[in-house]
Amino acid sequence: MIILKSKREIEIMREGGTILYNILYDLLKEVKEGVESSYIDILAEKLMESYNVKPAFKGYRGYPYSVCVSINDEVIHGFPIKEKVFKEGDVVSIDIGIIYKGYYSDMAYTVPVGDVDDKKRKLLEIGEKILFQGISEAIIGNRIGNISNAIETNTLKNGYSVVKDFIGHGIGRKLHEEPEVPNFGSKDNGPILKDGMVIAIEPMICMGKGEVYVTNDGWTVKTKDREISVHFEHTVAITENGPLILTLPDEKNER
Ligand code: MF3
Ligand code: CO
Repeated sequence: MIILKSKREIEIMREGGTILYNILYDLLKEVKEGVESSYIDILAEKLMESYNVKPAFKGYRGYPYSVCVSINDEVIHGFPIKEKVFKEGDVVSIDIGIIYKGYYSDMAYTVPVGDVDDKKRKLLEIGEKILFQGISEAIIGNRIGNISNAIETNTLKNGYSVVKDFIGHGIGRKLHEEPEVPNFGSKDNGPILKDGMVIAIEPMICMGKGEVYVTNDGWTVKTKDREISVHFEHTVAITENGPLILTLPDEKNER
């Protein structure tokens, strides 16, 4: 069952989403050469405390940290640990979720460490663009498939691949609600979008074939061909006025 949110609930989720944006913004500034990825988790917890919000991921199905930090061929769910130190040329994704007044928001962004080569720079640029191409299909009367299809076709057009083993999701009083939001598939698939639906759209885009496996820590997802992968995610409400990105501050929502 897809749980529709009232205007009031969406307003609360927007407040939470804005806090999450601010936290992630501060974390991304710390992605620099020589920083241990564990520092991102420590800082995230401090920031969450200062905003009086709770981590959404810690303890979720046993996940041990408050953020996921995934480097290069790590696609998602990387552990933020001391052993992983950022180095120039890396591509680092931070995925983070919080609970604010009982509502979840979820966001991820991928950034370079220092100078990266043109191939990586282009993947980062196009990966972010593809997220927004998906978001622009999040309008009343469309299907989830319109979002999925926009993400997949734009990815393939650029010579990249999408990860099919993990997908976006509805979000609200739980981190994962219906509907599923795949990053591939035909336009006429999936439920019709209605006013008040809230979904996390999260394409994972790879340079290689996009086939992945879970490593023996039980969580970290990596590409089989060791090619670089990026991950961009926003929490988005479907409204009468079109897609409303809850994980962006007001002034950044007008596009
Ligand atoms: N953005 C991811 C998701 O929606 C993060 C989940 S990590 C977990 O599934 F640890 F919480 F599972
Ligand atoms: Co998510």
